[in-house]
Amino acid sequence: MNTKLIQKLQDINAKKKTVLLRLDFNVPIINGKLTDASRIERTIPTIDFLLSQGAKIIILSHFGRPKGTFKSNLSLEKLIKFIEPIFNKNLIFLPNFDVDKIKSEIERNPFPSLFLLENTRFLKGEEENDIALSKELASLGDFFCNDAFSASHRAHASTEGISRFLPSCAGFLIQEELIALSEVLEKPNRPIAAIVGGSKISTKLNVLNNLIQKVDFLIIGGAMANTMLHARGTKIGNSLIEPEMTDIAKNLTIQAKSTNCNIILPNDIVCAKFLKENVPYSTYESDSCPEEMMILDVGVKTQRYIKDIIDKCQTLIWNGPLGAFEIKPFDRSTIEIAKHVANNTKEGKLRSVAGGGDTVSALKIASVENDLSYISTAGGAFLEWLEGKKLPGIESIKK
Ligand code: ADP
Ligand code: 3PG
Ligand code: MG
Repeated sequence: MNTKLIQKLQDINAKKKTVLLRLDFNVPIINGKLTDASRIERTIPTIDFLLSQGAKIIILSHFGRPKGTFKSNLSLEKLIKFIEPIFNKNLIFLPNFDVDKIKSEIERNPFPSLFLLENTRFLKGEEENDIALSKELASLGDFFCNDAFSASHRAHASTEGISRFLPSCAGFLIQEELIALSEVLEKPNRPIAAIVGGSKISTKLNVLNNLIQKVDFLIIGGAMANTMLHARGTKIGNSLIEPEMTDIAKNLTIQAKSTNCNIILPNDIVCAKFLKENVPYSTYESDSCPEEMMILDVGVKTQRYIKDIIDKCQTLIWNGPLGAFEIKPFDRSTIEIAKHVANNTKEGKLRSVAGGGDTVSALKIASVENDLSYISTAGGAFLEWLEGKKLPGIESIKK
């Protein structure tokens, strides 16, 4: 998508204005610790820009899926201790959605100030994209800025509805995401490869259907490859598959021929009886998975083949790990390929873009999260973008 089509934050005068800023603070908290702060950190330029203009900022975000009711464990108040040091600013928390009280609290504080509204998904009407709620939210400020790319596939009151009632623009993170993602999918330097892995074809079918029309090589790994192998009549033992996807998998192979896309499946596989740390495992040819075993990673021969393809390519898109990477040693191929992608990128031979919650975790385990050309902050939104879909939160900030 051409970013000329969207209204940009830098073109708006926020001086002495109140800005409703949609961010995505749906961040991973494990045992009380924030395990990945990138969704917060990467909005610093937008926050700093607006504060330097002297604006009052009201941050809107969801957290988890509370479905329209208050859930104390999903209160954004819990995140303040993580957010304040990252922004290096004090946050004024707005706990209740009482429009009059919120307005007087905003009024009481000087320009510039930074407010955080409680979890938008506590509000009935948020996920329904309710017009009355969108209008109420809009009444709190002078304009709306969306910088939550990772929530822009949701047509909710705080991502899409609100922009019907206020002048709206894109923050710096959304602009960066759109530039990076459009570059590789719309006008890539060829040849271009995509790696799609993960557990289920059903969740990524539309991604695969779109990519076979766009890429020269489609490398399929993870448990998704098991279903593809099964569809080709290969015995896959006890491996995780989706039998109901067999015909669809066959169809993908046929379609790929018509679009000149090479589908690459594993030719050797790493198998074990259980998916557990330190279980005995062996490598087999991809048609020789023993009956009592399951495929948990691709083998070294396949790794070499994937590396050869990457060496031929100028562009790579990656979503989904090649194996069950959370359990050692089934992380090996994902890590090995991640390092290769990082090296080719650092040498200037490859433009590499990755996205997806588990994909980004795997890149971190491989210590290459700073070495790819671009890592998206989005999970579901990245997939919908790979499907070629329009994202409602982006459509609504077009000029
Ligand atoms: P992302 O979050 O990056 O989009 P997915 O959620 O689609 O990725 O897929 C990641 C999951 O796929 C991981 O939990 C991983 O363990 C699982 N997975 C990958 N390969 C296999 C396999 N061969 N067998 C079972 N699970 C697998
Ligand atoms: C995400 O984490 O992908 C976004 O914040 C969207 O969350 P959702 O899938 O609960 O809408
Ligand atoms: Mg995932």
